[in-house]
Amino acid sequence: MPVLQAKDISISFCQYTKGLEQSYQKVITSLHLDVHAGEVVAIVGSSGSGKSLLAHSILGILPDNCQLSGELYYKGAPLSEVELSKLRGKEISLVPQSINYLDPLMKVGKQVETSVPKEKGNKKSVVRQLFSKFGLAPKVEEMYPFQLSGGMARRAIVSAAIAGNPKLLVADEPTPGLDEEGVKEALSFFKKLSNQGHSIIMITHDLEAALQIADRIVVFYAGTTVEMAPVRDFAGAGENLRHPYSKALWNALPQNGFQPLAGSQPLHDQLPKGCFFGPRCSLKTEMCEQHLPELRGLRDGSVRCIHAT
Ligand SMILES: Nc1ncnc2c1ncn2[C@@H]1O[C@H](COP(=O)(O)OP(=O)(O)OP(=O)(O)O)[C@@H](O)[C@H]1O
Ligand code: SF4
Ligand SMILES: [Mg+2]
Repeated sequence: MPVLQAKDISISFCQYTKGLEQSYQKVITSLHLDVHAGEVVAIVGSSGSGKSLLAHSILGILPDNCQLSGELYYKGAPLSEVELSKLRGKEISLVPQSINYLDPLMKVGKQVETSVPKEKGNKKSVVRQLFSKFGLAPKVEEMYPFQLSGGMARRAIVSAAIAGNPKLLVADEPTPGLDEEGVKEALSFFKKLSNQGHSIIMITHDLEAALQIADRIVVFYAGTTVEMAPVRDFAGAGENLRHPYSKALWNALPQNGFQPLAGSQPLHDQLPKGCFFGPRCSLKTEMCEQHLPELRGLRDGSVRCIHAT
């Protein structure tokens, strides 16, 4: 049974059009994801594909002006708002994408202490241990966020996210701002957590980083999940991948010849008819324009493409 399962998540934002007239603008159409105990699942997709909104749905921290539909399950049971409020920051924790989540008016050590559960004993010494694990000196505890470099702030945020020993960690772009060594450390730390039975959802633009630690890769495109694939399928010329977009991401890596994909991801208010990837797809047929393909199981993974075999 998956630890977390997201099924057919759609998100719309309320907008005021003329005066007090309201309308809902759909920005996420159909996201799917699951993660099992001890598994690292990486979500990859370009900017605006819906990665952070899915993370915020899982944590129940979407803004008030949006509507969510679809189903979320935690350990097989529906994840209600009440249940989430008990789990958030404890069993389920977020490494937010922005370092602005740190309170600018509070010393960093004190901030991380607020994430340490009572049962762990002396909060100050727990923070010291966490900081030393991430190469932050004790003097950092006394600093304010503006005194930290981007990399230091990110390390402090990761420390806060894992302070409660979460069963499920959702890490939204945890590596920008870190130097090469810092990225390696963070990735190996997440891998270590998963080896201890924790589940990790890692959100990233960086397919190469994802491939280093993930067990499975979930590819988002224009607010939809287009493929879920085991990491081993990212090999050769991408012949085992199911969706043309995943193949294109793989073939755009430097080691695979840097073959760029022409065009860009459509904006949520300019989605094409049928398959959202259609305008960039060399395999497109007339049938592809009829409706958005369903995500279907295929060879140990899933795909949203009517022609995938
Ligand atoms: N508060 C909001 N109001 C209206 N639209 C929003 C809001 N937040 C996000 N969106 C839209 O939802 C879509 C998905 O946004 P999201 O932040 O999840 O993307 P992302 O994949 O995390 O991108 P990035 O890689 O840049 O972080 C985008 O089209 C974005 O413009
Ligand atoms: S459904 Fe058609 S347009 Fe969409 S990815 Fe598959 S072949 Fe391409
Ligand atoms: Mg994001």
